[in-house]
Amino acid sequence: MDKVQDTIDLLKMYNQEHIIKLLEKLDEDKKQALIDQISKIDFHQLKELYDNTKKEIEIKENKIEPLPYLDKKKLSEEQKEEFQKLGEEVLENGQYAVVTMAGGQGTRLGHSGPKGTFKLDVYGKGKYLFEILAENLKEANQKYKKVIPWYIMTSKENNEETIRFMEKHNYFGYDKAFVRFFAQSELPLLDINGKLLVGKDMKIKEASDGNGGTYSSLRASGCLAEMKEKGIKWVFIGGVDNALLKMADTILLGMAIKKKVQIASKSIVKANAHERVGVFGKMNGHPKVIEYTELPEKMAEEVDEDGELKYGEAHIMCNLYTIEAIEKISKETLIYHSAFKKNSYIDEEGKEIIPTEPNSYKFESFIFDAFELFDDIAILRGKREDDFAPVKNKDGVDSPRTAKELYEKYWNRN
Ligand code: UTP
Repeated sequence: MDKVQDTIDLLKMYNQEHIIKLLEKLDEDKKQALIDQISKIDFHQLKELYDNTKKEIEIKENKIEPLPYLDKKKLSEEQKEEFQKLGEEVLENGQYAVVTMAGGQGTRLGHSGPKGTFKLDVYGKGKYLFEILAENLKEANQKYKKVIPWYIMTSKENNEETIRFMEKHNYFGYDKAFVRFFAQSELPLLDINGKLLVGKDMKIKEASDGNGGTYSSLRASGCLAEMKEKGIKWVFIGGVDNALLKMADTILLGMAIKKKVQIASKSIVKANAHERVGVFGKMNGHPKVIEYTELPEKMAEEVDEDGELKYGEAHIMCNLYTIEAIEKISKETLIYHSAFKKNSYIDEEGKEIIPTEPNSYKFESFIFDAFELFDDIAILRGKREDDFAPVKNKDGVDSPRTAKELYEKYWNRN
């Protein structure tokens, strides 16, 4: 009885009276489930996140500097060989693991299942995004005669479907004993007035809390402990939606080892000075992915003595970490950003509303916000045509059509 009253008081305190009305309508089991869910929500944090969506973004005086990078195509043969050898050793010793972030909602693509289950229309028969990733890892396994442990981060929403899909397709020939799924953490969605959304299952709608949740979810799921037990020294973390992602690049790995850094990242050069992408730089002395909104126009156009953009290295979700770096980040709280997205919900009459326009805030932390916890990271410039074929939008740029073209062009060349 007290628990019910406490829940009602809490909901009143945070202006969520519509949930009280919902509680009154539910049968005992559903009511208990909802009360349990509510007891796990940090309303104070949620209020703060909502209040932040109403605040003007503060433009602080930041000291921005370029972050040095190496261009893969300009490395000397000796340098390349040295990096490759260092990297290969790690792979051959079985000290390398890969994490695929597949917990996103993929709202822009509009595919009905998890993004990795999207079939890219390549070479007639087509290939699923998970299949493309599995092929890339299998190639490395063959080369280095070790099976790379593959950790797939899902969301609570898509976890079961993802596992079912991989089972159905026999893990695309990947050794199942080396694949582990873990679901990432979530945060409730809020409508434009800060009200919680209710889903068809009569629960409060929650969604993954961004790819920055990877680090803490690796720890909470026990995957990090498992990696340590296996003797893993380096962990690659990448997205699910880049059809040209190279997950075991020994040059990137060797460069990180040689430079004695805890994080290394592959970049591609911006298409032009004003392309709307985040670029690597140093902000107030720490490495960071600087959003295009944070980079003054003049700086965006600055070039070095070779005529290269000083702030031209775009982040492509191709990041490598020492196990110690993951451990360190997993204990930190990263900042949350809000994204205004389309999410269906149940209205007060119990009718499902499927919005055609964005209607709710999703709170997300970003994987790259962890970089500033370090003094330095190493950047390797790859090539757009070799390393980046994103599947983000239904049509136009970064869509299945452009990714298909890039993928086929790459494989026709290689
Ligand atoms: P995006 O930020 O492009 O998001 O994810 P998305 O969910 O795929 O697509 P939209 O924005 O809803 O259209 C980049 C990578 O991060 C993963 C995605 O699965 C993708 O690999 N991600 C994103 C997560 O794993 N969890 C999240 O909460 C968000």
